[in-house]
Amino acid sequence: MARLKVGVLVSGSGSNLQALIDLCAEPGFPAEIALVISNKPYVRALERAATAGIETAVIPHKGYPDRQAFDQAIDSALRAAGVELVCLAGFMRILTPGFVERWRDALVNIHPSLLPSFRGLDTHRQALEAGVRFHGCTVHFVRADLDDGPILVQAAVPVLPDDDEHSLAARVLQAEHKAYPLALRLIAEHRVTVEGKNVRIHGETGPVAAPLINPAR
Ligand code: GRF
Repeated sequence: MARLKVGVLVSGSGSNLQALIDLCAEPGFPAEIALVISNKPYVRALERAATAGIETAVIPHKGYPDRQAFDQAIDSALRAAGVELVCLAGFMRILTPGFVERWRDALVNIHPSLLPSFRGLDTHRQALEAGVRFHGCTVHFVRADLDDGPILVQAAVPVLPDDDEHSLAARVLQAEHKAYPLALRLIAEHRVTVEGKNVRIHGETGPVAAPLINPAR
């Protein structure tokens, strides 16, 4: 069977992109990254893609009169590359409702919080200010509302007494590098259906260690 063609949109370091590249490099993995698009030139994510021999494109948002025109350019590049699934991986632009609708259920994002808590920016600071004992990340299908949409995978990490934004972000990022590849695997293996606001995962998913309690005693 043909491998699922994935497009990844990035703006920065691309550590999540790297996790997806490494996953797709596994022999027989049913997806391949066909194109990486960055809205910023010279970012590390582009180097990572080039090193892996993946086609890249820089589409600078400043080069377009409005969001629609920018999104149209991205859409055209994705379609020209035959992309079937779009993964947002640290892509720091808000996509227009038109783009989101055109890629409905074929557009996923990773957000550094356990949604629906802490939408938007500075999620680690938000978590510390809220005093939660667990934080984490969410891979979800994208809808027009910011950081909204059916949830595919979540990974939780504890918030520890001496955490600052930096230490907490690092712990969450490690979890992201597990959650995003799992989400892509589930989609690529055709084990996912979106049912309204929920995602159904078909087949064996393995045991979840429960309950996690923080503090432990
Ligand atoms: C990640 O924390 C992701 O959740 C957020 O932006 C960050 C991107 O990191 N959307 P990287 O570029 O994948 O290293």
